[in-house]
Amino acid sequence: MEKRNCIGARQRVFWNTTMTRTLGLLTCALCLSAGAQKFPQLDLTPQMGWNSWNKFQGNINEDLIRQMADAMATNGMKDAGYQYINIDDCWQGDRDAQGFIHPNPQKFPSGMKALADYIHSKGLKFGIYSDAGAKTCGGYAGSRGHEYQDALTYAQWGVDYLKYDWCGCEDMNAAGAYTTMRDALYAAGRPIVFSICEWGQNKPWLWAGPIGNSWRTTTDITPCFDCDVDHKTWQQWGVLQIMDAQKPLRQYAGPGHWNDPDMLEVGNGMSTNEDRAHFSMWCMLAAPLISGNDLRNMPPETLQVLANKDVIAVDQDTLGLEGFVYSTNQNVEFWFKPLSGGDWAFCALNRGTTPQKISFHWKRENVSDDLSKCDAHFGTITYALRNLWTKQDAGATSRTLRTEVPGHDVLMLRLTKISPRS
Ligand code: GLA
Repeated sequence: MEKRNCIGARQRVFWNTTMTRTLGLLTCALCLSAGAQKFPQLDLTPQMGWNSWNKFQGNINEDLIRQMADAMATNGMKDAGYQYINIDDCWQGDRDAQGFIHPNPQKFPSGMKALADYIHSKGLKFGIYSDAGAKTCGGYAGSRGHEYQDALTYAQWGVDYLKYDWCGCEDMNAAGAYTTMRDALYAAGRPIVFSICEWGQNKPWLWAGPIGNSWRTTTDITPCFDCDVDHKTWQQWGVLQIMDAQKPLRQYAGPGHWNDPDMLEVGNGMSTNEDRAHFSMWCMLAAPLISGNDLRNMPPETLQVLANKDVIAVDQDTLGLEGFVYSTNQNVEFWFKPLSGGDWAFCALNRGTTPQKISFHWKRENVSDDLSKCDAHFGTITYALRNLWTKQDAGATSRTLRTEVPGHDVLMLRLTKISPRS
């Protein structure tokens, strides 16, 4: 594979899609607010952090958030690249007579500025949550009509990340509502990662690139590998359901504008092999890695999944390309993800519950990615294989790969070219 061509093509794809989207929105943006934009150079690799929702929902307070920051700073996660400590819904108190939002005084008696200072003192960053509607999904004060005031407040508190939800917005235009908050954040002047949480309802991948740093592609995740939960008015999806929904969207994501398949459920009740497969696939999808478990009480096997630097390097690769399914054999999907420097990530994902034997005849395969123009001709080029979970060398593509993948698990390899030398 010719490294220079592949990266050059990737940049062309990025600029072509960016230019098309930008030109489309330019007219509208110019008449709304001259000069407004999202902050450049933010989130060039997918954001990594922790969020309170998946484990704690509304049961949050400042002690809990501080303890999460303490844990992340010392347990190896910060060292592995995690940086955001994000409070989700249910932190809000009342608005004052001027309309400024205040945190719930029982849950956050020291105030948000003090909490942000504490998190920053650990070398971490601070994230918060609001909603484009009048009320959040939990029924607390949303930002509708207070966008500029809220953005200013967040900037004064020292917020670095905003997750912005979509409850109670049935009568609103999604691109317009998210543009308003983007402009408000920009006007407030503090670079804040803008995480759009609109659940994919209005196809944000088509319009959110110039607005946010990431956008949710689906409804909420639940800690289950293969299921959906019907709550009548809304649904939750398992890992495979969300992953499948994101497969057709890879051309829309890239540095600074990511598809978001929702926060991680690692450590929240799935088996270790399911946690490993979930984490691996989120990395193959270049997804934001926002852990959602209790960082204070983690069994070693959970931490080993969340802090595996080799797997994280696949997610954080600077090309910013999502992987794709190359071929399928019964329950096993063979995924490839182009990486910078001519490397590839490979994942054999067993969607089934029973172990499946696989054989992959590298030399007969010709991987070619239409989007990035990266290709791997295994017939003429040999790659060394490294198993990213066992951390062992796994031979080379000169020999057929034969192994067994347990149910709901993965074999994940990194491929590095060894011959011919270029
Ligand atoms: C929505 C979001 C979730 C979470 C809750 C909070 O359901 O999709 O991620 O933020 O709201 O109420």
